[in-house]
Amino acid sequence: MTPLPPNLRETWLPVALSRHLRARPIARMAAGVPIVLFRGRDGIGALRDRCPHRNHPLSRGRVRDGALQCPYHGWRFSAGGACVETPGIALDPARAGALGAEPVGVVERHGAIFVRVAGDDGGFALPPLLGDPDNDHFWWAQGRWRGRALDAIENVLDPFHTNFIHDGFIRRAERRMPVTMRVDARAHDIAVTIEQDRPDYGLMSRALESGGRTGSVTHYYPPATIQARWQGAERLTLCVTAFFTPEAPDRFRPFACFTTPKGLAPAWLKQAAIRAFLAPVVRQDRIALERQLATIERFGGPRFVQGPGDFLGPRVARLWAGETIAPAQEGPFAVEL
Ligand code: FES
Ligand SMILES: [Fe+2]
Repeated sequence: MTPLPPNLRETWLPVALSRHLRARPIARMAAGVPIVLFRGRDGIGALRDRCPHRNHPLSRGRVRDGALQCPYHGWRFSAGGACVETPGIALDPARAGALGAEPVGVVERHGAIFVRVAGDDGGFALPPLLGDPDNDHFWWAQGRWRGRALDAIENVLDPFHTNFIHDGFIRRAERRMPVTMRVDARAHDIAVTIEQDRPDYGLMSRALESGGRTGSVTHYYPPATIQARWQGAERLTLCVTAFFTPEAPDRFRPFACFTTPKGLAPAWLKQAAIRAFLAPVVRQDRIALERQLATIERFGGPRFVQGPGDFLGPRVARLWAGETIAPAQEGPFAVEL
């Protein structure tokens, strides 16, 4: 399996929702690095999940007096990783600096916890609309998926699978609609716009898009974030910001934040409706990505051809690996979805 590109270690990646981190520390993987998260006296802590003393996993410990305690010999570490106690023997403050655990960058924002395993604490940025106070938001954490994060990203950018894998839910295999597609590539990101004058023929559009549809834009913010916006006749209907946090080359954790304009319906009702309609769609993608990974593994690696509808071609893989691409505006392409 191709290793994860090194740029992912310098990327801010969500690893947990705020509501899931309570008194107990939790173990996570981000870009191949084991992490422990905990709430300490001096804020949220994210450390490499390895006690510096004898390398016991810190995630097996617990928070005591505001610091994470390793269960092996009881050393305690602050949220910043400093060793604050070595039970049974006095800790010489002059030596404490050399006994610390390894912190990683951590930011808690809009209900999610993001880490960056290499580099400093700077450069944290989120796509537009996420957390915007004029809209309602809710997060949906999907647990751990078997698959390649890059394939999941391509799946979200690619509308052609929706007629097949999601037949009846998003679009339909046997009843297509003419739409136009455009691609806007910039050096560091890429977007696909679909223009249409009606909602899709699938069940989900019928139920959630009573106000019609004029188009949708799916924007890839490399390496691990996608934001899709559906535009109604008058305003935004729905915006989904999806993060695909790679744990290892063959598994990842998707996190999605759903943004809807305030006022259409109560936030709880929108959340319930979106979850009900999307649950089967998410399951369909999850199975497809698992099967795709299994096939890639059986043949010893991926081998893809670019079809006529693969407008983004190899550019997604290049952006994923931290490369730049040539700016271009392409289309409109006439397709049937
Ligand atoms: S291994 Fe953690 S305190 Fe000794
Ligand atoms: Fe899908």
